[in-house]
Amino acid sequence: MSEVEAQELRRVAGHFPTGVTVVTATHGGRPCGMTVNSFASVSLEPPLVLVCLAHAARAYACVDAAGRFAVNVLAEGQEAVARAFASKVEDKFADVAYRTSPHGSPILDGAHAWLDCEVVARHPGGRTHTIYVARVVALAAGRGHPLVFHAGQYRGLGPATTR
Ligand SMILES: Cc1cc2nc3c(=O)[nH]c(=O)nc-3n(C[C@H](O)[C@H](O)[C@H](O)COP(=O)(O)O)c2cc1C
Repeated sequence: MSEVEAQELRRVAGHFPTGVTVVTATHGGRPCGMTVNSFASVSLEPPLVLVCLAHAARAYACVDAAGRFAVNVLAEGQEAVARAFASKVEDKFADVAYRTSPHGSPILDGAHAWLDCEVVARHPGGRTHTIYVARVVALAAGRGHPLVFHAGQYRGLGPATTR
């Protein structure tokens, strides 16, 4: 059987619509963050979630060393935030206000929801990624609508299909 081409996997997997998060942490007194859509909830008891981070990302070393992170679920209208945190700009926090959670991770202003997490397990995700399983220690959700990512594009959520 032939190998699956990376571009083809990216294209086909991209047909699965996701929300958009910014995973943030603080290490050495400096905030770090990156756009992430590999977020998923794992279990309710205990309250566990996961994210999958590329070793090539600068934020990877920061999150790994911190051993804790916040998942900021972006709101519709925060596309510029998603783009900034998916880029290689030097100061990603220049254009977005944030506060620091009691557990030390940045919570971005205007986030649709946020979850403050402590890493409880690290699993290899092939040669290039680490899958972090983390316990949720604080969380909150706002009103409004989330930002959505589908087929390489940012969009809003359409009307609900059930009442
Ligand atoms: C919508 C979207 C989702 C992404 N999800 C992930 C992800 O789940 N894991 C990951 O390692 N990178 C993901 N990325 C890529 C990182 O955001 C990107 O590599 C970023 O530049 C890393 O920044 P850093 O090197 O400053 O940490 C995603 C990018 C986009 C646009």
